[in-house]
Amino acid sequence: MVGSRVQLAKAGREYKACCPFHNEKTASFWVSPEKQFYHCFGCGAHGTALRFLMEYDHMSFPEAIEDLAGRLGLTVPHEGGGSGPDPQNAPLYELMGRVTQFYAQALTGTARAGQYVAQRGLTTETVQRFALGYAPDAWDALLSRFGTHEADRRALAASGLIIERSGGRGEGHYDRFRDRIMFPIRDSRGRTIAFGGRVLDRGEPKYLNSPETALFHKGHELYGLYESRVAGGTLKRLVVVEGYMDVVRLHQAGITCSVATLGTATTPEHLKRIFRLVREVVFAFDGDRAGRSAAWRALQHALPEAREGREIRFLFLPEGHDPDSLVGAEGREAFEQRLDGALPLSEYLVRELSAETDITHADGRARLAEAARPLIGKIPAGVYRELLIARVAEVVGLPAERLEALWQGTMAPAPPPAAVRSPPRTRNSAGRGSLIRQALARLVRFPSIAGAVTDAERAELQDCTEAGAELLRRLLDDLRARPIQISAQVIERWRDRPGGEHLGRLLEREAVLDDEAAAAVELRAALGKLVDLGVDQRLRALETKSRSGPLSEQELKEFQMLTSRKTVRNGKSGPG
Ligand code: UTP
Ligand code: MN
Repeated sequence: MVGSRVQLAKAGREYKACCPFHNEKTASFWVSPEKQFYHCFGCGAHGTALRFLMEYDHMSFPEAIEDLAGRLGLTVPHEGGGSGPDPQNAPLYELMGRVTQFYAQALTGTARAGQYVAQRGLTTETVQRFALGYAPDAWDALLSRFGTHEADRRALAASGLIIERSGGRGEGHYDRFRDRIMFPIRDSRGRTIAFGGRVLDRGEPKYLNSPETALFHKGHELYGLYESRVAGGTLKRLVVVEGYMDVVRLHQAGITCSVATLGTATTPEHLKRIFRLVREVVFAFDGDRAGRSAAWRALQHALPEAREGREIRFLFLPEGHDPDSLVGAEGREAFEQRLDGALPLSEYLVRELSAETDITHADGRARLAEAARPLIGKIPAGVYRELLIARVAEVVGLPAERLEALWQGTMAPAPPPAAVRSPPRTRNSAGRGSLIRQALARLVRFPSIAGAVTDAERAELQDCTEAGAELLRRLLDDLRARPIQISAQVIERWRDRPGGEHLGRLLEREAVLDDEAAAAVELRAALGKLVDLGVDQRLRALETKSRSGPLSEQELKEFQMLTSRKTVRNGKSGPG
């Protein structure tokens, strides 16, 4: 995979090359095909095959998976049980492509539409880059051209391009988009999946969007994301604006990292997509009241995605301007300066909360603390949250610990420390530690072997208190519930979860395994041994206890149960 983009030379089990992420003359970029990992000793670029596709090709996570799986000859089970790319959709994509072309031609051929676009300051190059078009002023422009047969009309209707006449004799359809400038909304592969259409003069609604279809889910898509990715250069941040026109004009001005939500608030889904591609996002909102309330909503949706290493900032434009008009008025550099100076989420949050209350009085400060609590509770536990708590504490004039103590009980509880969750462990011999390690390493390397573990085997693991047992349980449950076939996908899914980093290190450092069937057997053997260990420990504890006094009836029962289980197990697994 990496090899199809970088000249690789074989070096033992691995490959080396000149690093595609920085300029170098001697090869310090290593790729391990078995582990689906790359590492550059020069610049430190480092990651899974998936991350490579995401960073080097600006693919989104699901696309990278599809791509990688395709290369490995696997089909990808889709997360969340959703439907994957449905082969039935192929004709719809194809139709949308032809309609995009049709609209584009109509724009060239309609003087009035051309004038409108020019008057909005768009160049021919921009029109082409965004495949802008024009829907003719007719009820049947698409119908007469693409809807001659019944099957074609069904496809048009399924794409949301025509609407069935209601009432009357109920016969026939008409075009949804008429006399509008058309903005194709493209998926990350550049296929048109929907349209937005703007009236040329006044008219209602100003923008008309495609309805939800098999191809188009409004709350997930970002207008301009495809164009941002193919604009060239490294995508470091994304700027989220409100309108189609804003995106187009910003790109034209050279700010090619701009995207827009489609007339909806920013959803958590949007943010997930954004953070799969970049670490930094700037929301640019109009300075008016609507813009401010949209910004506040965006903040709320952004909080669960806030964490170390991510930057979320807010830019408020001067009253009466939107990005389109502002970049037109002051140009690229000035706009970029504004972007660089945008308000970090933490400052925006504090500023908004302080604006609502009088923080010169204790009362007001208490109210601010109260208002901050649910917001901070949305941020995942971690350094970022701690920093924000410290910042709020500073404004409120309390030590951070006091503030947290005040909030106790109402905020999402932090996970209990390991010592509370699991009883103190007996000495952790290398052998025991390595059982968990062996199991984890095999699961990460061949995630699909999680399916070989039976419910009973999983249940027996429940009481295991070895170091890492909790991670093992969570990984097993995750892989059993949502199967994965590629190692790199495990690392990506677990990227931001506790233990994720550990899994990454395991995959990198453990010796290469290449026999999946053997790995499955070894995994189950390791689980079995872990359970035996637990039984042993418990037996020993009961034994020790019995020496200082009689066991309760229940303890005796448990003792008997455990000894019988031990003999059964040993009988099953044979000597050794
Ligand atoms: P705006 O009204 O701010 O439009 O709506 P704009 O982008 O500045 O457009 P111009 O400059 O007048 O051409 C912002 C976004 O809200 C959605 C669209 O996505 C639009 O780009 N919207 C707006 C609708 O979906 N329907 C509408 O009727 C209006
Ligand atoms: Mn505008």
